[in-house]
Amino acid sequence: MFDWNYWLEIFTTRAAQLTIRHPTRDDWLADEECARIAGSIATFQLGEQSEGRTLLRFAENFAARRHIPALPAVTALFIKEEQHHAAQLKEFMLANGIPLKKKSWTDSIFRVLRKLAGFEAAVTVLVTAEMIGFVYYRALARATESRCLKAICRGMCADESVHLRYETQLLMTLRGERGPLLRRLVEKAHRVLLTVSALIVYFDHRRVLKHVGYDPQGFIRDCRAVYRMVMHNRMYRPRARDTSSDVTA
Ligand SMILES: [Fe+2]
Ligand SMILES: [Fe+2]
Repeated sequence: MFDWNYWLEIFTTRAAQLTIRHPTRDDWLADEECARIAGSIATFQLGEQSEGRTLLRFAENFAARRHIPALPAVTALFIKEEQHHAAQLKEFMLANGIPLKKKSWTDSIFRVLRKLAGFEAAVTVLVTAEMIGFVYYRALARATESRCLKAICRGMCADESVHLRYETQLLMTLRGERGPLLRRLVEKAHRVLLTVSALIVYFDHRRVLKHVGYDPQGFIRDCRAVYRMVMHNRMYRPRARDTSSDVTA
């Protein structure tokens, strides 16, 4: 049984602790590094930035049907954390002279997919993006010399690991209402979605990901490792290891 009050308490406590890191002058990005990561970080900033209206509407409808009064509040607090990620990345980008993006094709794909079906499908797409984001931020922390950006990435990974725990518990609960055959089919479709999405993200962000030693297979393998960790409680053993930026979810 999903414990809504537990998550309401967690997200309420976390909301009061959200702070923005400001990069100092001696920690700005060098030109070469800035050229390598600027487009990539701008795409992720855009992805984090969402008013979450569709997700909130799905959650409100679902909560009304199932009599879960805490769900809209939990969803709103969750969206607030994602908006904080966007604000944090924006602060870093502006300090380093990186322009904000208004559109990106990968971001558009995730937004369209999220709106296609109901609450369960929206959470599935969201959790897929968060799994990939977790591996990406780990990689970005290794791709930069900036102490501030490394700290931001570690903070993002820590936050996303909480989000992943919340979303997967929610997904398990929603999927638990299905029969075993349909549930297996849904899980298979989710793994296919993850693999295809990870491949698309790899090609869109390959300058950063290649720089830290990822090839498409390695990136997909690490995204799948996150999937197994959060969906099946397995140990996360990334292919690309770097103890200085490891975050345990
Ligand atoms: Fe995020
Ligand atoms: Fe998240």
